[in-house]
Amino acid sequence: MAYRNIILAVEEGIATITFNRPKALNALSIDLLQEFDRALEEVSRNDLTRVLLLTGAGEKAFVAGADITELATFDALQAKGFSQAGHDVIGRLQLLPIPVMAAVNGYALGGGSEIALACDFIYASENAMFGLPEITLGLIPGFGGTQRLPRLVGKNRAKEMIFTGQMITATEAERVGLVNKVCTAETLMEEALKTARLMASKGKVSLRAAKQAVNIGAETDLITGCNFEIDAFALCMASGDAAEGTRAFLEKRKPDFK
Ligand code: CAA
Repeated sequence: MAYRNIILAVEEGIATITFNRPKALNALSIDLLQEFDRALEEVSRNDLTRVLLLTGAGEKAFVAGADITELATFDALQAKGFSQAGHDVIGRLQLLPIPVMAAVNGYALGGGSEIALACDFIYASENAMFGLPEITLGLIPGFGGTQRLPRLVGKNRAKEMIFTGQMITATEAERVGLVNKVCTAETLMEEALKTARLMASKGKVSLRAAKQAVNIGAETDLITGCNFEIDAFALCMASGDAAEGTRAFLEKRKPDFK
């Protein structure tokens, strides 16, 4: 499928989507958002894809937010449609059954941060900056930032970022639990790919079950979450993955998951 604002590449079971409008710091135009949605659909239809990696083109930005030249023309109804479209795409991203990593290589602002927040985890380059600056535009985050950021870093820290619009550095983002690992700009993709390959080498059924169990557990009470885990554990045991994984351990060799 042809894309103009993103690049989708799949290699060794790892799909990489690169947001590709570097002149506008990869800002999320309506076109880009629609292409991102199509790319996610393409990724979800490809059974061989085991992990998805998101990053930005150029050296400055992951994504600097919604395209403000477009935003500036919206009336309230168009703003509602745009926000809904963003929520739909990011909802689709979050519901992908495979692990999704963001490799944040510069500014992740507004909608860019909101995309990263919906990934399973984030690696960042030393020059990365995270923020929800919408308040400075007389707006609020519109792609889930008011909901996902407090869940990740706590309500009060999220409020400070949202109410002031101030950015935080990659180091600060790592300190507050937003980012798992900070790398140099040169090694970011290499480090992200290393982790992606490690996940891709695991069993598909158990990866899917692990992701679902953590995500469901995060949105429900402990007993319901634990009950989900019990059923998912049993489901894994019924799969070829568990047969191969346990046999490989007993035969003192590496598992070869199909
Ligand atoms: N939309 C459209 N264009 C953008 C953009 C955006 N979000 N961010 C940057 N650009 C453009 C700039 O206009 C500039 O274009 P020109 O060269 O044609 O002038 C180009 O990208 C480079 O940007 P700067 O010259 O501004 O680069 P800088 O290094 O001086 O500053 C920056 C970088 C701090 C990220 C600054 O560009 C900036 O503040 N960008 C806007 C960030 C923002 O407010 N994002 C939130 C958008 S609203 C949103 O996302 C709502 C939502 O929840 C969905």
